[in-house]
Amino acid sequence: MTKSRDRILELFRLAAGRYLSGEDICRDLGITRTAVWKQVRQLRDLGYEIEATPSRGYRLQTKPDTLIPSEVAAGLATDVVGGNIVFLPETDSTNTQARQLAEEGAADGTVVIADQQRQGKGRMGRFWVSPAGVNLYLSVVLRPRIQLRHATQLTFLTAVAVAEAIEATGDLQPQLKWPNDVLLHGKKVAGLLNELNAETEQIHYMILGIGVNLNMTREQFPADLRTPATSLLIEAGQKVSRLEFARLLLQKIDGLYKVYREDGFAPILRSWEERCRMLGRKVEVDYQHSRVTGIVKGLDEAGALLLTRADGGEERVVAGDVRLFPEGD
Ligand code: BTN
Repeated sequence: MTKSRDRILELFRLAAGRYLSGEDICRDLGITRTAVWKQVRQLRDLGYEIEATPSRGYRLQTKPDTLIPSEVAAGLATDVVGGNIVFLPETDSTNTQARQLAEEGAADGTVVIADQQRQGKGRMGRFWVSPAGVNLYLSVVLRPRIQLRHATQLTFLTAVAVAEAIEATGDLQPQLKWPNDVLLHGKKVAGLLNELNAETEQIHYMILGIGVNLNMTREQFPADLRTPATSLLIEAGQKVSRLEFARLLLQKIDGLYKVYREDGFAPILRSWEERCRMLGRKVEVDYQHSRVTGIVKGLDEAGALLLTRADGGEERVVAGDVRLFPEGD
């Protein structure tokens, strides 16, 4: 069924706005006219506007902004990421689903996308607000051949990919905040939650979980959010195609993953630092009931934050919530 639907969508793409005769579709797919009509009805239910004229056939007028795999894969130029795409109209969490697929042997680069999540997972056991139809929630399964202590490098890679994808959609200039927030005008627009399955030194798989607020309106954000949040729509005043953004993001991840495999972490770290507004600034980091304050010196190769304390000593922080002091403080 899905195969027939995907083929009809492909025929519409090739027809580029022209009519397709019912007979041609029947012949191409090897199905009856009634079966074609049934597929067209199902596509209409998904939001595709398809004109049907007895004398001329079918013509695709408009497409909805859905993230079905054949649409995301159409024209997707990647080596590894997105070779296999799974779309779930509704799920608990794409990270949970991706983890399950990885356990079942899903290939390197498998992507799980959801229209909405009932239990979107955020960092530190928090909840990620995931309403339907507006944002992007996706998880990528990777099986990198790297040392376990370098796994966090892929979080920085993902953050740079999200920032580059946002930059490519218009005039916005995202900033990166340690460890893995993407901000627009100081408010969080995307969050990353990477999960790992490893044994001693060997990584079995990693799940790169990415949530990007694309078309969420102010009213859709809960009033009691811990961190001020925003969306591309709020910041740019324009709707973003989820489909185009998803494709762009997968291409950015794939491209940076190639750079990482060939040239290591240094170029990724440089791109991350270029977009980080914390270098040289005074910060306070909270982690599990302890608090440390210092000036940000940079990151080490494991992605840990290096701080210089007021007493001149150095502090290496591996996780936590960061608060920036106002400049000049
Ligand atoms: C954060 O707290 O900043 C991380 C948020 C990560 C949210 C994304 S949405 C897709 C993927 N599935 C989840 O359940 N979480 C991540």
